[in-house]
Amino acid sequence: MNWKTEYDQIKTGDSVTWTDFIYKCIEEVAYPPRKNCLYDTFEDLRTTDFVTAPASTHYHHAYKCGLIKHTCETIALAFSIRKACEANVDYTELLTCSLLHDYGKVGKYKENSEYRSTDSTGYPFKYISRDAELSDQLRSVIYVTQMIPDISEKEIFAILYHDGLYPDENIISKNKETPLQLMIHWADMWSARMDQYGW
Ligand SMILES: [Fe+2]
Repeated sequence: MNWKTEYDQIKTGDSVTWTDFIYKCIEEVAYPPRKNCLYDTFEDLRTTDFVTAPASTHYHHAYKCGLIKHTCETIALAFSIRKACEANVDYTELLTCSLLHDYGKVGKYKENSEYRSTDSTGYPFKYISRDAELSDQLRSVIYVTQMIPDISEKEIFAILYHDGLYPDENIISKNKETPLQLMIHWADMWSARMDQYGW
């Protein structure tokens, strides 16, 4: 897979482009049980608002289908980083973590009907109130463990701490970084900043 070409296509693509890209990535998984699990997981995701939701209320990818676009960018950038670093990071683990790192944002946003881009009344999306406010990262990990029985501790760590040291509570991950976690973090941040600031 040429990840630079894929990334360029993702940047200018649409929901069909992004869905096809994810299927193509899953097809490359060598271990059949995990490949089947990822297919089932993506089929499950397609029944949710994963394919239509934004990735935030007003920060990055705060528009319809922003979450799946951001997810695809994170996948392509993570593999580009792996290639550039010549890092010994497993394909399946990198795909699993980049694909599912933001599951916690599923079912979280709704359009703000009072929003007017011309007079800044709030943000384009707002939060749906929930019974309990688990962190996005924890919601992602819970979902992953439900969908992928053989998920490893290394993968859980990468998803749980994919925001690096930004959240104060992640200080416990300091000096415990792993190549897998750092690649997800860098790719996630780059996708977010590129979208938000046009870097
Ligand atoms: Fe993300």
